[in-house]
Amino acid sequence: MTKIIAHRGASSIAPENTLIAFKRAIELNSHGIELDVHMTKNGVPIVIHDFDLARTTNGKGFVNDFNLEAIKKLDAGSWFGSEFSQEKIPTLEEVLELCCETDDNFIINVELKAGSKVYPEIEEKVLRIFKQYSILDKILVSSFDHYAIEKIGSLEKDVKTAVLFSAAVVSPWRYLSTLNFDAYHTAWHRLDKDIIEGCHRNGLIVNAYTLDDMDFAKLLISYGVDGIITNYPQNLLGLV
Ligand code: G3P
Ligand code: MG
Repeated sequence: MTKIIAHRGASSIAPENTLIAFKRAIELNSHGIELDVHMTKNGVPIVIHDFDLARTTNGKGFVNDFNLEAIKKLDAGSWFGSEFSQEKIPTLEEVLELCCETDDNFIINVELKAGSKVYPEIEEKVLRIFKQYSILDKILVSSFDHYAIEKIGSLEKDVKTAVLFSAAVVSPWRYLSTLNFDAYHTAWHRLDKDIIEGCHRNGLIVNAYTLDDMDFAKLLISYGVDGIITNYPQNLLGLV
């Protein structure tokens, strides 16, 4: 069955990448959540999409120029609606804590927005946090920074790894299999039946991002896509 994964939480009904957005996604019975990780100046992995604070908070500047204490003073909800003014930027730990009670097959797709070239030792840090919560089975770590994912895989064999692409990749299974990655995360409009089947023949998972259109979702589900990352889990859950 195709899994419906809430992109940045239930981000069409609550401010993206906040605890309330992840709570809403769990309440909707989404099969998983996707979240984006950056790191503070004092080395704490936190959950926010942009490198810059301006779009989703009342702060300004780059995330990694601030310690956690300053980050925690920011309002991460008012930009979406005044009723969310108490929402803060969560730490990775706070989001994982929220997911501890979910089903065994729940997916926590942790997207690293950059690896250790930008955020020193972020791979070691996130792995330490995953182990602390004993939820390694639910974690799927992804990134557009494939070096970060290669490092994660070399540090910890038991965590599932995914590489993100926006380009149309020729026979993606060749690349993924050579580097021992587990999942192909691709822009949904790049997918067709042959690519999904080719990946499956090679034992790979295929997840499409970020798909909100019901008709295309139905089509990819009919092709057997493993997961759809969507801003509208409340709509797409009715299709599976
Ligand atoms: O992980 C899927 C998707 O979130 C990748 O793009 O920019 O929304 O993080 P972005
Ligand atoms: Mg993302």
